[in-house]
Amino acid sequence: MVVFETDRLVVRRLTVEDAPFILRLLNEPSFLEHIGDRGVRNLADATQYILSGPVASYEHHGFGLFLVQLKDGGHPIGICGLLKRDALDDVDVGFAFVPESWSKGYAYESVVGTLAYARDTHHLSRIVAITSPDNVASINLLVKLGFYFDRMVLMPGDKEEVKLFARRLGKARA
Ligand SMILES: CC(C)(COP(=O)(O)OP(=O)(O)OC[C@H]1O[C@@H](n2cnc3c(N)ncnc32)[C@H](O)[C@@H]1OP(=O)(O)O)[C@@H](O)C(=O)NCCC(=O)NCCS
Repeated sequence: MVVFETDRLVVRRLTVEDAPFILRLLNEPSFLEHIGDRGVRNLADATQYILSGPVASYEHHGFGLFLVQLKDGGHPIGICGLLKRDALDDVDVGFAFVPESWSKGYAYESVVGTLAYARDTHHLSRIVAITSPDNVASINLLVKLGFYFDRMVLMPGDKEEVKLFARRLGKARA
């Protein structure tokens, strides 16, 4: 199911068929360093992750993390979407891409689309994002997208605080 499209990208719901890509993405050094180890080591783990994470979120909230693929050829390049965590009052935006797709504006393009989707489909007026304090690429991306640093937060189970960024969303399109 396609959620939205941008000039160069198709953003759609994840299914268990995406397990090979998720297995790869979640074991990228950049993902392990900046987001964390989700313990996904084989296709069965990746399938379980998709079902208990994104797919469960679609069912509960109507949104979740989505697959980002290139319009040209349909190749998957990353994930991007919305999360509702118990520990945060606001919905947060999440994103991660495979290294060969970095620095081409794809993350920017997919998050711009995600913010419009959050506003127009889910009528959210405020959105947040969390990053590790040393994730310069992610912090610069959030600032470029109009987010401002709000505060440090300690997420459940974490030993170190993360940076919480926030942004207001404009009025929904008529
Ligand atoms: C963070 C991440 C999503 C950026 O993806 P990307 O596709 O390279 O980003 P874009 O090409 O859309 O760049 C948008 C902006 O991000 C910032 N940025 C991206 N990579 C950067 C880098 N290596 N150093 C500094 N700033 C960077 C810049 O502000 C850039 O704007 P500019 O091109 O005008 O300078 C990517 O590095 C990634 O997947 N990292 C691993 C997972 C992760 O950390 N996710 C975020 C968790 S909070």
